[in-house]
Amino acid sequence: GAFPQKRGLGLVVQTQMSKKGRVFSGARPTGRQHLGNYLGAIKNYVALQADYDCVYCIVDLHAMTTLEDLSQIKANTAEMALDWLAAGLRPEETILFVQSHVPQVTELHTILSMFTPLGKLTDLPTFKDKVRLQPHNINYGLVGYPVLMTADITLYKADVVPVGVDQQSHLEFAREVVRTFHHRTGRQVLVEPQMKNTEFPKVLGTDGKRKMGKSENNHIELALTPEETEQMVRTMVTDPQRARRDDPGDPEVCNVFTLHKSFSSSEDITMIDRECRTAGIGCVDCKKLLARNLNEHLQPFRERRAELAKDPQHVWEVLHDGARRASAIAAETIAEVKAAAGLP
Ligand code: TRP
Repeated sequence: GAFPQKRGLGLVVQTQMSKKGRVFSGARPTGRQHLGNYLGAIKNYVALQADYDCVYCIVDLHAMTTLEDLSQIKANTAEMALDWLAAGLRPEETILFVQSHVPQVTELHTILSMFTPLGKLTDLPTFKDKVRLQPHNINYGLVGYPVLMTADITLYKADVVPVGVDQQSHLEFAREVVRTFHHRTGRQVLVEPQMKNTEFPKVLGTDGKRKMGKSENNHIELALTPEETEQMVRTMVTDPQRARRDDPGDPEVCNVFTLHKSFSSSEDITMIDRECRTAGIGCVDCKKLLARNLNEHLQPFRERRAELAKDPQHVWEVLHDGARRASAIAAETIAEVKAAAGLP
C-alpha cells in the first residue's frame, strides 16, 4: 500500500497510505511448513500485507496444550519462521513474533478469564474434540485455549483475523468475550474482531482422504528438494475409481487436480481437465507435470530459504525485533484494560 508522490525537486518518494486496519493471526509452531499450510494460511498472510498492518504470531504457549514432547518447540519455531520469511513475509512492515516473548498476553488472558463462563469453554466443539483425542491429558490450559486466543487477538486490537473454518467457533467466542467485557466494565477499550475465512481450497494429503497435516503424515513440505517433491507427488492417491490407465478419470475428486489448480498455468489446468476425463493423459504424466510446476513455483522460495538458513541468528533477531514492536502495542492495551476493569 504505497503510492509514489512528486516532491520538491521532482524526486519520486514512497508515501505510506493508511491501510484498512490491523490483521492478527497465529499458528502453532509445527516446524517445516507444507503445501496445506501454504495454501491455507501463508499465502494469505503474505497477500494481506498489501492492505493491512499485519501482526503474525507463532503461538508457542498454545502449542504446550497438546504437546507431550516440549523439546521441539524452539526448533519448530525457527523452522516455521524461516518458511514464513522465505514465502514473503516482510518484517520491515509486518510484525512477526513469538507469543511467549510478549508476556502481557498471559496477563490479559487472566483478566479475560473472569469474563468467561466456564460452561462456554467446555461446550466448544474444539474442546470436546481434544477430550476425545487426548483423554489422558485434559489440562487446564486446554480449557482456557480460546481465552488465550482471545487475548492474542484483543491485545493487538486486531480488526480482522484470517483463519480456517475450524477456528470459527473460537472467533465467535472471542467476539462474545469482548462484548461481555465492554458491557460489564462500561468501557469500549477492545476491538471486536472480524473473522476472515481464508481456507481455500481444502487441501487433502497425499492419501487423498484427510486434510493435509504433519500429524497425518500425508504432507508435502515446501522445503523439499525438487527430487523429493517429485517422489512425494508420485505417491499421491488420485481418483480411486480410475483403476487402469485407459479408464477415464474425474478431476473433481482428484487431489492432484486440486493442486494443479493452485500451481499450474490455466492452459495446463484446462488440458488436464479435458484429457483426464477422456483418459488422454494418465495419472503418472499428470503427476509429473504437477511436480514440475510445483518445483518451478517453489524455486524462488527455496532459494530465499537456503539464503536465510545460512544465518539462523538472523531469524531470531527478526523475531525479537517483532516482539519489541508488539510489546509497545501490548503495553498500551493492557493499561487501558486494567483501568477499565477498575484495577488500582
Ligand atoms: N487456534 C489457532 C489454530 O489452532 C491458533 C491461534 C492462536 C490463533 N491464537 C490465535 C489464530 C489468534 C488466530 C488468532 O489454528
